[in-house]
Amino acid sequence: MATEEIYFKHHELLLPKETHSQESLTFLARDFSFKDDDAIAVTYPKSGTTWMQEILPLVLSEGDLTPIQTIPNWDRVPWLEENRLKEVVHQLSSPRALVTHFPFQLMPQSFFSSKAKVIYVMRNPKDVIVSSYYFHQMAAFLEDPGTWEEFIDKFLEGRVMFGKWTDHVKSWKHTDLGDRIMHITYEQMIQDLPAALRLIANFLGKKLSEEVIKKIADHCSFKSMKVNIMSNFSLVPKMYMDADKSQFLRKGIVGDWKKHFSSEQLAHFSSTIYKELEGEHFTLPWNLSDTAEVADVHT
Ligand code: A3P
Repeated sequence: MATEEIYFKHHELLLPKETHSQESLTFLARDFSFKDDDAIAVTYPKSGTTWMQEILPLVLSEGDLTPIQTIPNWDRVPWLEENRLKEVVHQLSSPRALVTHFPFQLMPQSFFSSKAKVIYVMRNPKDVIVSSYYFHQMAAFLEDPGTWEEFIDKFLEGRVMFGKWTDHVKSWKHTDLGDRIMHITYEQMIQDLPAALRLIANFLGKKLSEEVIKKIADHCSFKSMKVNIMSNFSLVPKMYMDADKSQFLRKGIVGDWKKHFSSEQLAHFSSTIYKELEGEHFTLPWNLSDTAEVADVHT
């Protein structure tokens, strides 16, 4: 299928037609209102969205397992920009948890006049692109990724849903949200999930006992989420997501990029990203050009 049959453009961003529409964007802009106690996880796709859809309800409810055991993640913590929002928004109890892949400048007006809090989750783009490559293979509502070599260029040029990774990250680093935003990385969450949960809980004004933190960490482990049918996307018909091609909860690790990039590809990837971040007031917490561990055995 041609790109324009799969995506439509919204302010130059490609959005999948299967899950997004002019109607869903209008609903968000005109009919949806943020509340001051909303918690919004913001991610570039494949950076830990589903993980936050597990974490946020558990933190906000201080460990009540009911939502993660009874409501599919897309209805439990809906995407702001997707069609499902208008179907489920009235069922959400406050404090609400929401997610979005939107860049900062596309957030609707009511967000800016509210006190809603944002948790921005960033992941090493080398692992984001690998995760995205497999996701494009299994998700029928996304364009075929082509070869790995071709996908690298698509990703770097922003010819994928939600555009360039660098634009997304920059937009959320340049906010005037002050203490309404916290930044965390996927890698921090992998390294020490209980510590990450304490930071998130503290940011959201929740005092959780160590017992509750442990309980949440157990339920948000990759192993637990992989078998939670409300979170592993196995409820989605195979014609939309084909787990035989790739599982949604695929590996859940840091550093799978080492098995995919050649040294040349990595040099091209890292120099492109660094060039786009030149002059920025922030630095990335990873050394993208580290070729030491590249096995040169790649897909
Ligand atoms: P991989 O494809 O590298 O395994 P998103 O939810 O933003 O689409 O991101 C999906 C990625 O997050 C996938 O990465 C998925 O396995 C990973 N992920 C989801 N839940 C996780 C968890 N509990 N622990 C570690 N990684 C998780």
